[in-house]
Amino acid sequence: MKQIIISGGNLLTGTINIGGAKNSAVALVPASLLSDEKVTISNIPKISDIEALTEILEYLGADISLENDVIKIDSSSVENKEIPENVSKKLRASYYFMSALLGKYKHVEMYFPGGCAIGARPIDQTLKGFRALGATVIEENNKFKIFADELKGAHVYLDMPSVGATINTMLVAVRATGGTIIENAAREPEIVSVANFLNSMGARITGAGTSKIKIIGVEKMTSGFSEVIPDRIEAGTYIIAGAVMGHNLTVANIIPEHIENLIQKLKEMGVPITVDSTSVTVSRANSLKPISVRTAGYPGFPTDLQQPLTVLLSMAEGVSKLEETIYENRFQNVKYLNKMGADIDVSSQRVIKIKGPTKYKGGTVMATDLRAGACMIIAALTTNKKTFIDKAEHILRGYENIEDKLKNVGVNIEIVDI
Ligand code: EPU
Repeated sequence: MKQIIISGGNLLTGTINIGGAKNSAVALVPASLLSDEKVTISNIPKISDIEALTEILEYLGADISLENDVIKIDSSSVENKEIPENVSKKLRASYYFMSALLGKYKHVEMYFPGGCAIGARPIDQTLKGFRALGATVIEENNKFKIFADELKGAHVYLDMPSVGATINTMLVAVRATGGTIIENAAREPEIVSVANFLNSMGARITGAGTSKIKIIGVEKMTSGFSEVIPDRIEAGTYIIAGAVMGHNLTVANIIPEHIENLIQKLKEMGVPITVDSTSVTVSRANSLKPISVRTAGYPGFPTDLQQPLTVLLSMAEGVSKLEETIYENRFQNVKYLNKMGADIDVSSQRVIKIKGPTKYKGGTVMATDLRAGACMIIAALTTNKKTFIDKAEHILRGYENIEDKLKNVGVNIEIVDI
């Protein structure tokens, strides 16, 4: 097990450069399979989720080269093999292989994907998309057999704007015959990045970034290129850290419009923040106002920043309210924040009430999931007592070089194997 040890109390100052977006890159890598020619993706983040996906691609027979942050993938000799359950269970994004293989070969056999344990996370909308496009889905013991004689474009209405179902439906529809319309599609920037990448490979997709995406299927996909967009959740995490413990902390290489939701909430609390074209500079405020926050699909407040934000809310004078509308089990961080000294009421399943201001003390806590781990790190930054964060491997799934990035701005942090 990996453990992060932090002796906080220092103000964070300097610059943190943001890497490529995990939730874009984890879709782009499997999407590359749809082409029979070499594709290139730059600004690939160095995170363990990407390592897991490239291992799957190699297992399937793709030829991969990774140099610095540029990956080149040649899928011309890929074999449509079953991906072992212990591999697909490692992460959520393994199910993008389900759609890419189905789109390319009209047949796939795969197990239910993994991912952070933050709710049930069913895949019914993805399967609904596959069925609408003409596939038969047989589920047996956690395994899905999905096949079609012909994939035909269709009108697909998603019951909720699911990121995964939108991308999965796109990955199949680009290779179906005729046109597809996805209604109530997710509008996240990561969806736009996947559509742009597919279009660079010869797909015909319009409307990505709106709730109606139109796709005209093509027979062949060629070489393509993408530069992974900046990770808005990594950026948001460090900006929140800066609002909690920063002194002119600059978070650079970002697209500020992608985190407008966060910036507005920080301004509402009284956080000193200046926004430039590709960076944000933030400092700790003398006093913070309590606010209410409700998570929602993009452009609403991201669920992935809810747990990191909780620490900032706990610094405000008074009671803040945080409502989680996307996942039914994304407050596992609260138990550990309370252990460190917070006063957070979690008696209602979807709403927590955070009473501040809080003076955190260290101790041993746990990263129950990726963003809960980020939340623990931010709480640990505030106290000069040592904090030990167990199960830190969850954090390394989505935050590249976190040790160096935080050390460079003045944090005493180390990652050890225990
Ligand atoms: N949902 C269903 N049925 C479906 C699909 C989704 O009921 O078929 C529900 C889910 O259970 C959830 C909600 O709809 O309650 C939203 O799920 P969505 O499909 O949008 O999420 P996802 O694609 O599984 C991605 C990110 C998550 C991020 C969400 C929302 C990846 C690999 N994961 O998950 O990222 O929280 O979108 O923005 O892209 C993270 O990075 O920490 C993380 C969890």
